[in-house]
Amino acid sequence: MGNCCSNYTGMWRALREGNYSIKEINYGGADATVLRTNIGVPVVSLLDQTNIRYVFDMDLVEKVPFTLGNTVLRPAVLGGHCPGMLSNGVEHVRRKKFAMAVIQRSLTNSLFSTMVEHLHAHTSMWATVGHNIYDFEDRVNRFCADVVSKIVLGTTLPYDSVRAWQNGLQSHRPRVPTVSRFRAKSHALRALPVLLRNIRNAPAYEEIIQLGKTCGLTEEEATHEVLYTIVGHALPQVQNPLLSCLAAYAAMPDLDRRQMWEEMNKVLHNVGTFTEAVLDSMKCVESFILEVLRLRPPMEFFFGRARKDFVVKTRDREAFQVHEGEVVCGSAFWAGRDPTSFRVPIMFRRNRFACAGSEALRGSLIFGRGPLSFLPSTENHQCPGLELAMGVLKPSMAWLLMFCKWKLTEEPKWSGKKRSRCGKPDNPMGMVTFKYYPTDVANYYPLPGVTPSNKKGKDNSPNVSSYVSSIL
Ligand code: HEM
Repeated sequence: MGNCCSNYTGMWRALREGNYSIKEINYGGADATVLRTNIGVPVVSLLDQTNIRYVFDMDLVEKVPFTLGNTVLRPAVLGGHCPGMLSNGVEHVRRKKFAMAVIQRSLTNSLFSTMVEHLHAHTSMWATVGHNIYDFEDRVNRFCADVVSKIVLGTTLPYDSVRAWQNGLQSHRPRVPTVSRFRAKSHALRALPVLLRNIRNAPAYEEIIQLGKTCGLTEEEATHEVLYTIVGHALPQVQNPLLSCLAAYAAMPDLDRRQMWEEMNKVLHNVGTFTEAVLDSMKCVESFILEVLRLRPPMEFFFGRARKDFVVKTRDREAFQVHEGEVVCGSAFWAGRDPTSFRVPIMFRRNRFACAGSEALRGSLIFGRGPLSFLPSTENHQCPGLELAMGVLKPSMAWLLMFCKWKLTEEPKWSGKKRSRCGKPDNPMGMVTFKYYPTDVANYYPLPGVTPSNKKGKDNSPNVSSYVSSIL
């Protein structure tokens, strides 16, 4: 499928084929790693570790305001403010400086204790329902929304407004006006003032606005930047990987699940307290999360527009000409499956990033707009949220594996074709059973009103979670 394909045909193909719509599988020969295709807009897709780096080069590729390739952020839903993530030049520099300062500020707060408080509250509620939790994804999304907004703003945002605003934020290109999209937009427009009011009333607001002033942002600009960074970006980027992690854990072979659970249990027993430091010692948890981000990236495409003509020098073809103004689309999905960087890339190997010599692999894991080892600055578009994201994902995973026991309603399966699932399994995840053991937590972390079970080291039956047809 070349450039000649109409935008509508391209859009339908992209909806049907997802990550496969930007690649042509050449059975029997090597796949092309750069090609022109249409996913609703004509794009040059960059599909391996070497080529994807062109989209990160700010001298060659620029952002298009309010636009992410074949999706557009609705300016009205953003109150007319284009986020720093989609800006260039001076505008990007001052907004990125501000975002980095806000994130840094939230990391110095009591992140871990906030996490534990919210994990305890939310998992208690899920366990009260206990069976047939078909809205499990929504519950996890609510938990992430509560905890991230509490960490950054010092208050939780009303979840219904968060969800309505997120749902109506984007529209597809080319535009297909439907009643449901019109409704989503109007709900989002109604949620906007509610969210802004809650941000303005947040305990951290004054401090955040001061940070904005030092970065040259007016109060209104800073408030909208926080809204997009937190609700529009950070939340989905934490919500989706957390769900993908649970699904990936359940989908692992029984032996792997048991071994991972035992490794974590051993560290916890040895140290005797549930702290951030313990999580750092659980190397298997970090490696597991990174492997999920590699194979199931929550943001699969990176877009930009060529500032000038340039040549992509590929491994397989000598040169590929990109013209000024063309949309380029780097694929984290395909770069994460590049066999020159990852051995047996389609296999989920939970210890891939924990083995000896795996440090170098981090330079190949595309995390934000660049490899994991690429430091964020105002001179690039690399995501500055890694530490915060890990600060949420690591304790959540440890908690849900060590102190809870659950069964998914079905075996998680990923076709790679459902882009709207952002790395989660194709079908929505539900829970057949969900149990939570607060007295086990109390053995390692003081919970108000909960007496420790004092079974440290006695429990030989692993609390291993899974999906319904699994034997564990
Ligand atoms: C696993 C979690 C996360 C992933 C996978 C992720 C991914 C990304 C990606 C791919 C971009 C570049 C987007 C583009 O250029 O099209 C980005 C940028 C950004 N991320 Fe994240 N993100 C995550 C978590 C967070 C968190 C928790 C925050 C903080 C609150 C955050 C803040 C930002 C900001 C401010 C940018 C804009 C950087 C710039 O344009 O210079 N991210 N992220």
